[in-house]
Amino acid sequence: MKQGIIIAALAAIVILGFSFSKTPQKITKERLGEMLFFDPILSEDSSISCASCHKPQFAFADTSIFSKGVHGLLGNRNTPSAMNMSARGAFFWDGRAATLEEQALGPIENPVEMNLPIAEAVKRLNRSKKYRHLFFSIFKSVPNKQNLAQAIAAYERTLETSATPNDRWLNDEANGMTEQQVRGRDIFRVKAKCFECHFTPDFTADEFRSIGLFNGSTHNDSGRYLVTKNIADIGKMKVPGLRNVAITAPYMHDGSFKTLRDVIDYYDNPHAKMPDGINRDTVLRQPLGLTEQDKQDLEAFLHALTDDKFLKKK
Ligand code: HEC
Ligand code: HEC
Repeated sequence: MKQGIIIAALAAIVILGFSFSKTPQKITKERLGEMLFFDPILSEDSSISCASCHKPQFAFADTSIFSKGVHGLLGNRNTPSAMNMSARGAFFWDGRAATLEEQALGPIENPVEMNLPIAEAVKRLNRSKKYRHLFFSIFKSVPNKQNLAQAIAAYERTLETSATPNDRWLNDEANGMTEQQVRGRDIFRVKAKCFECHFTPDFTADEFRSIGLFNGSTHNDSGRYLVTKNIADIGKMKVPGLRNVAITAPYMHDGSFKTLRDVIDYYDNPHAKMPDGINRDTVLRQPLGLTEQDKQDLEAFLHALTDDKFLKKK
């Protein structure tokens, strides 16, 4: 009897000890999505991952005008930040995807990005012991199109940033904005009319507007029109959010503005740079008449939208 208890106890200790040493860190959907986001396995020649273009140190955007996909191929749109996506209602510059799940499969199949048919991507994941095991422990299923998209989207929803001077200022916390940034915020809201399109909390309501960067020749990305085929949508793009914008240069769908100052100079007088821009929004009809001081204040405010984690590095 006693012996039986001792044996049972020993067995329990052995089993417990064994299972502790073997139990890996608990894997979640988000963690699996993170592994996939950084894994080139999802590209044709296993050379490109999501993170090749959405670089973590630049708020998951890219510093080149157009990012390189497989075989060094270039797309024709600037890589936007993949952060602060959880509240978005439309994805891509033209809004052609309605959910992050739908969005996530796009770049894998895009010929100038990862160029891998989804069926092939799913096959590869099924051939990998590691991924088969991980998908099974989370989804109780082998990898498929749906759970692949779900995992990546779940990871992207964790990429929210709110440790910024502007957020602290709004919450009356310490280390908020400087006086200059507060002045810049007022210019952003009133004189420069930025707030008409870029409103809080993420500085976008996912509307499609045109700031006039389309003329049918040198600037020929017709944006939202490609999705709706409605003439009124020619040149309209999804209003981008502005969190971390100070570290995501170059700017606009075509990466044509190098600096925030270039962006501000454009808005001050769009006609000067794009006299033949078609369909420019009525909000941007008249020059803003910003002074040098206004421009500097406005730029300082845009820097107040950068999350602390990007400043502490280096
Ligand atoms: C070769 C570079 C490249 C790769 C690889 C890439 N992307 Fe992108 N990503 C872009 C570009 C360029 C756009 C904008 C495309 C457009 O609007 O048509 C974009 C758009 C997005 C958006 C939409 C952002 C918004 O504001 O609407 C998300 C989210 C995103 N990518 C996530 C991913 C994920 C997830 C992967 C991997 C499965 C990935 N990307 C792979 C370049 C890339
Ligand atoms: C009429 C709506 C509208 C107004 C007003 C407006 N924006 Fe924009 N903003 C947009 C749209 C749409 C884009 C994308 C345009 C494109 O790529 O063609 C954009 C792009 C930007 C970008 C580039 C972001 C990126 O990731 O590339 C910045 C920065 C920006 N706006 C700041 C401002 C500032 C500062 C003001 C005020 C001076 C302002 N915007 C006023 C609609 C607007």
